[in-house]
Amino acid sequence: MNKNEAIGIFDSGIGGVTVLREILKILPNENYIYYSDSKNNPYGDKSDKQINELCEHIVELFIKQKCKVIIIACNTASAKSAQYLREKYTNIPFIAIEPAYKMVYDYAYNEPTIVMATKGTIESEKFNLLYHVYDNHKTILLPCVGLADMIEEGKTDKIKAYLKEQLESYRGKVKNVVLGCTHYPLVQDEIQEVLGQVTFFDGSSYLAKHLKEILEEKDLLNYEDKESTIQFIDSSNNQQKKKRFFELIKE
Ligand code: DGL
Repeated sequence: MNKNEAIGIFDSGIGGVTVLREILKILPNENYIYYSDSKNNPYGDKSDKQINELCEHIVELFIKQKCKVIIIACNTASAKSAQYLREKYTNIPFIAIEPAYKMVYDYAYNEPTIVMATKGTIESEKFNLLYHVYDNHKTILLPCVGLADMIEEGKTDKIKAYLKEQLESYRGKVKNVVLGCTHYPLVQDEIQEVLGQVTFFDGSSYLAKHLKEILEEKDLLNYEDKESTIQFIDSSNNQQKKKRFFELIKE
C-alpha cells in the first residue's frame, strides 16, 4: 500500500458526504473515491445478507482502484457488515461509522436523548451491544423508516411533514439527539425546528480523527502539498446526485 493511493468511502447514497466533510477538515491532502450506491438504496430495511453482498461489490471496486483504506460512511452498512468485511478482506483497513451514543454517555450522561437511525441500525446486534453498555434509561430509540430516502431525493416538504409527525411529541422533553444515519445531519435544522433547542451528536468528527490516527500509525498519510481530489461514482450514474454531492461538499 502506498501513501498516494486513494481513500475509498461509501454510503447507500450521498449521505456519507457529511462524513467526508469532516474528514476533509483534517485530511485536506488526500485523494478520495466516493461511492454512492443509489441504485440499491435505501439500505435501512435490507437483510444482513443483502447488505453484505452490496458492500462486497463496492469493496472489490475499491480494491481494484488500489485504495489504501476504506471508510464505511453508512451506519446501517457498518452495523450489519463491518465485521464481515474485516474478516473477509484482511489486507485493507476498514474505518466504520457508528451512532455517537457513547458520546452522549461521556458528555451528557443523565439527559433525555433520542437516537434517530434506520430500522436496520436500531435492530442490529452491533448497535444493541453499544446501547446496552451506555444506556442511561432516558433514551428513546427512534427508527426513522423512509427518512434517508426522502433526504436522498431532497423532498423538503415531505421531510418536514415526516419530522413533525415523528418528533413533535418530544418537543421540550429531550436534550440530545443522536444522528445515527449519515443522511440526517443534512436535515439538522429541520429537526431543530420541530424539537427546539437540542444538542446534536454524530460520529463523523470522531471517525475523521480515528482515520488520521490509523493512517499515521500505518505510515500511510499523504504528505504531498496539494489539494484533495475527489472522484464521485454513483451506481445508477445519476448526474443530479453528482451535482448535489459536490454542492454539499462545499457547505
Ligand atoms: N446513510 C445511511 C446510514 O447511515 C442510510 C441508510 C439507508 O440507505 O437506509 O444508515
